[in-house]
Amino acid sequence: MPSGRRIMQRCEALALHSEQGGGLTRVFLSEQNRAANELVLGWMQEAGMQARLDAAGNVVGRYEGERPGLPCLMMGSHLDTVRDAGKYDGMLGVVTALECVAALHEGKRRLGFAIEVVGFGDEEGVRFGTTFLGSRAIAGTLPPAVLEAADGEGTSLGEALRRFGLDPARCAEAARRPEEILAYAELHIEQGPVLEAEGLPVGVVSAIAGFTRLRVTLKGRAGHAGTVPMALRRDALAGAAEAVLAVERIARGEPELVGTVGRLEPLPGAINVIPGEARFTVDLRAPRDALRQRARAQIEAALQAIARGRGLELGIEALQEQAVTPCAPWIIAQMERAIAAEGMPVRQLASGAGHDGMAIAAVADIGMLFVRCKGGISHNPAESITEADAAAGARVLLNFMMNFSK
Ligand code: GLV
Ligand code: MN
Ligand code: MN
Repeated sequence: MPSGRRIMQRCEALALHSEQGGGLTRVFLSEQNRAANELVLGWMQEAGMQARLDAAGNVVGRYEGERPGLPCLMMGSHLDTVRDAGKYDGMLGVVTALECVAALHEGKRRLGFAIEVVGFGDEEGVRFGTTFLGSRAIAGTLPPAVLEAADGEGTSLGEALRRFGLDPARCAEAARRPEEILAYAELHIEQGPVLEAEGLPVGVVSAIAGFTRLRVTLKGRAGHAGTVPMALRRDALAGAAEAVLAVERIARGEPELVGTVGRLEPLPGAINVIPGEARFTVDLRAPRDALRQRARAQIEAALQAIARGRGLELGIEALQEQAVTPCAPWIIAQMERAIAAEGMPVRQLASGAGHDGMAIAAVADIGMLFVRCKGGISHNPAESITEADAAAGARVLLNFMMNFSK
């Protein structure tokens, strides 16, 4: 039987590996990432798996089926976090999948397929500004140019891999062939309020919303805050402020659309200098691609009008574009059977958050289970789940795994 208590303890243990004390931040290829990987590799071995770090910095454990070399049911989630994160986004899926494998191992059971558990190195995209680095490497869709992406200190992904002891030239070796993976199943906290509102511990995901990520630069003219009259300024930050409100107004125009400016940086950033430049990001999501694409065009037109009206130079760089990813109906059906078999009502819901399955969908059909979280709060240190819900999620995942067939 999977242990809710051990799942909670392991999430706590992983949360200790943080770049700041009293909170959790763990980015890809950091020393904290290395320490978390070591923990997970150890737990994989304890659960009877062969455990390794792949060429792209993902932790991969394999539990053979009735014969060695069978294709696998892949499970897992990510081990990186946002800044000042909660303890469950990502980690819960890795730890719960391991708990299910441990249950097999303890019962000396082998299935008609192998199980692989992956702790993806980068899902959040915090360090290099582009997400799904780990899962895209496994899907074989990571463009080599991404190795040039730089972090806030100017270190490229390629260089960071090298410092981590990996060879960037071999990153593509992490790619898996479709015939090796029967399906990908991920358990994750809901990160929204639906399950809690309906009194349900577990839900099954119908589809994952698509997203567009932009990096916008507005350039005006820096100047003296005391001497340049208001009418003669080209203040890039004031333009950005208008742009933030335009993103909000456009996103509010459609109930299914959400738009966020999560980073805003004025330059040079001094109290007595008119900002000559402002950089910000836009994250736009919707459950329908056409809706998101229309909103993107509206936002770009609004930014152009703002820049024109204020004499600013505008640059828009598309960081990432990800289509809506449906979960496979045959996997949804098997997950629904597992939920019902564990005595819980079946509830489908869409995911507004992005997940590694969006990248893995290029090589395998995907399915996801959601576990209720308190207040729907996530990407926040207040993220919280109960031990009972962790155990319920693990029982459903184990039931799904034991009865999985393709
Ligand atoms: C990942 O957590 C995302 O949806 O941004
Ligand atoms: Mn997240
Ligand atoms: Mn996540």
